[in-house]
Amino acid sequence: MQHFLSIADFSADELWQFLRQAKDLKEEFKSGGNQPILRGKTLGMIFQKSSLRTRVSFEVGMLHLGGHALYISPNEIGLGKRESVADVARVLSGYVDGIMARVFSHDHILQLAQYSSVPVINGLSDYNHPCQALADVFTIWEHFGEVKGLKLAYVGDGNNVVTSLMTIAAKLGMDFSVATPIGYEPAAEVVSMANKFAQETNTNIKITVTNDPIEAVGGADIVYADVWTSMGQESETEKRLKVFPPYQINENLMAQAKAQAVVMHCLPAHRAEEITDAVADGTQSIIFQQAENRLHAQKALLATLLGGR
Ligand code: CP
Ligand code: NVA
Repeated sequence: MQHFLSIADFSADELWQFLRQAKDLKEEFKSGGNQPILRGKTLGMIFQKSSLRTRVSFEVGMLHLGGHALYISPNEIGLGKRESVADVARVLSGYVDGIMARVFSHDHILQLAQYSSVPVINGLSDYNHPCQALADVFTIWEHFGEVKGLKLAYVGDGNNVVTSLMTIAAKLGMDFSVATPIGYEPAAEVVSMANKFAQETNTNIKITVTNDPIEAVGGADIVYADVWTSMGQESETEKRLKVFPPYQINENLMAQAKAQAVVMHCLPAHRAEEITDAVADGTQSIIFQQAENRLHAQKALLATLLGGR
């Protein structure tokens, strides 16, 4: 049985299969609707954190494919508190055909997958956000008509979104640079894993970790932002607001990227913090196309994992 827990678990060919399938499903949807390939199937969606995009795009995606999704809110099942993660996985997988989970600890995703008898999809953990990265690359491919050879620059916190973006860049052949304040760099294991993948796939790309946003953004095709304080880190908000302002994506910073560069943000955005309105709503922004594409990319995951396509 196949789960979708990390970009690292998939080869470039497998990732491209998802991307091509997302393109087909998007085209099919836009020209009248999707075939009900998941008729009678149910996705159980466990949320330990808030969500707009992940929750709605999975639920609507299941509906479009003829299936059904069940939203389980943060306080309902008490994952790992009211009962063990293993027991939740064993019980829930007796009712549903797939489990999507958004959790704090990545270990909970791994445990769900270990004890579930149905596919598990990671809808974000403190470690990574693979559904986001898949939809992001789909958006990049749509916009540029290619992926290989582009440079993606991420500016901000070296967080869960960075783990998945760096990994997918390494697998699919994009240069990846990340600029963070000192002490907020991505984990060294993530960087060395990405470098290993780049070597294995012979993509010959460059991964740069720096504290200088201008260096990171220089020559970039895509400039990418995320919040400075992720869900679960709220107690650090004040401390972070002191060190992150030089890492704001604004018009001055965008001027360092290629003239044709686009700006992306996984959203939700804290406007006037990590990104200005002028950039988020400007002509270079593709953030709402990016948000919409969560729907189409995840349909590809659902079709493969739950529908055997
Ligand atoms: N980008 C993203 O995952 O958004 P939500 O937190 O709203 O699901
Ligand atoms: N890094 C953010 C992403 C939200 C989609 C968080 O974890 O809160």
